[in-house]
Amino acid sequence: MTGPVPELEERATACAERLRAADRVLLASHIDADGLTSAAIAAQALERAGIPFEAVFEKQLDGEAIADIAATEYATVLFTDFGSGQLDIIGEYEDDGAFTPVIADHHQPATVNEQDSSSDGTPSRADTEYHLNPLLFGIDGASELSGAGASYVLARALATVSAPDADSTVATDGGAATADSPASRARADNRDLAALAVVGAVGDMQASGGELHGANAKIVEEGVDAGVLETGTDLALYGKQTRPLPKLLEYATDVHIPGISNDESGALRFLDDLDLELKRDGEWRRWAGLTNEEKQTVASALVKRAVSTGVPPGKIDQLVGTSYVLAEEPVGSELRDASEFSTLLNATARYDRADVGLGVCLGDRDGALERARTLLRDHRRNLSSGIDLVTREGVTVEEHVQWFHAGDRIRETIVGIVAGMAMGNDGISRSKPIFAFAEKSTDSRAAAADDEDGNVTGEDDDSEDIEIKVSARGTHSLVRKGLDLSVVMSEASKAVGGDGGGHDVAAGATVPAGGEAEFVERADEIVGDQLS
Ligand code: C5P
Ligand code: C5P
Ligand code: ZN
Repeated sequence: MTGPVPELEERATACAERLRAADRVLLASHIDADGLTSAAIAAQALERAGIPFEAVFEKQLDGEAIADIAATEYATVLFTDFGSGQLDIIGEYEDDGAFTPVIADHHQPATVNEQDSSSDGTPSRADTEYHLNPLLFGIDGASELSGAGASYVLARALATVSAPDADSTVATDGGAATADSPASRARADNRDLAALAVVGAVGDMQASGGELHGANAKIVEEGVDAGVLETGTDLALYGKQTRPLPKLLEYATDVHIPGISNDESGALRFLDDLDLELKRDGEWRRWAGLTNEEKQTVASALVKRAVSTGVPPGKIDQLVGTSYVLAEEPVGSELRDASEFSTLLNATARYDRADVGLGVCLGDRDGALERARTLLRDHRRNLSSGIDLVTREGVTVEEHVQWFHAGDRIRETIVGIVAGMAMGNDGISRSKPIFAFAEKSTDSRAAAADDEDGNVTGEDDDSEDIEIKVSARGTHSLVRKGLDLSVVMSEASKAVGGDGGGHDVAAGATVPAGGEAEFVERADEIVGDQLS
């Protein structure tokens, strides 16, 4: 990637050379859409480079998870989509010679204090050598490059550095493409992986203003050039590939259009009035299958309706955005639309089935796609009942923040998504950040993953050990006013003996049960300071 920041690429090259020198690599990644795509990019780059590896996924990279990683016999560990926030712990293992870390991440690095020297006077480390993070090079990790983006930069570098003892570069894994076709060239330099990088960025909501920008835009360009991505201006609604038209409109609630959003018969009437053949063999067609002319007709009628029902112009603008289409996937598949793809991935990894999500990213290995679709149905149901719950029961509003406690009624791995989606609903303002608490599942609870309404059987008798997950979500407009949730989560959780971090606009933490009230109090103070 010949981007505007050569230092980022230099660091990527150093990381790639280190990986090339390894006999084998343990690849550790995060359990969300960005983490999965990060791992899939890294996996393919390692595979193509002929470097043996094994992949593991963690819900959270805490001390325990890092200890487990260190206990494996791997001398080289590649962390993707996490690692920066845990530099302090990882650094200790590195110093002890447990493993050499290579990190491709975009989270706020843990503050490793140089002054804070250990008792024998040796200065503590400020950073680690193979640390690839956009934030170190002036690139915004919350909006310009995701974990998958950082992994992509690394993958591009891996394709250019050759193995230390190789007399010829390792061949790519063949395929149908002839040796010198554009497609095989894109594979040879890993540019075809740009599609997954875009899915990761979209999954981390980095396209929230309607399109990707900064380093992400550069990746989009490479993907288009490689023939794996297509972009265009399109309706910015979720479900353009898979949802029947009435559902596409009914469920699209980011921009509320009276008489259509959340209104089944209204959406049907709107479409019926359009004088288009929108059904085929008695079935509603999908947006992706419409001709451009048909799309035009529907879109302008929709905008017209929005205008006539008084939707503010700023909101109407949000109906249209840049679409990111994975050109090689069939029309009508979740995998064709970056946003639907990322939701499909969240439906796997956030339910302990990262293997399924990774299989999907690697080209439907072992029938992964069908299994992912089944998981997606449950995920959708969980999101919608979670949002209903929060909207029905409401939030507690403090001076600067608002919060709710879901207990065990929303799975901790999706409570942040629910909080973000509920913002803007009745009684849940977008002018204050939202904090969402949920009980962390113990391993036995996690095993009962498909327990639909989250009923937990049997009270834990070691209740004092229960940990609480906190997810925080803000808006870009609050961030512009000074909000930094990564700082809030890190400091407020520390105050109650927990641990947290993340990004300015979205962050998370773990706190001990019982610490919630004090946590809210601290968070309220810190947010107050940030916004003053
Ligand atoms: O760990 P990671 O960086 O991959 O996750 C980022 C999280 O932040 C995602 O869950 C994403 O949905 C969330 N996010 C958000 N709103 C934004 C940006 C990110 O909720 N504007
Ligand atoms: O889990 P959730 O979706 O709320 O996470 C939001 C962001 O905060 C993610 O980028 C996640 O990686 C980060 N996070 C963190 N430390 C935690 C929990 C979450 O850095 N303890
Ligand atoms: Zn990420």
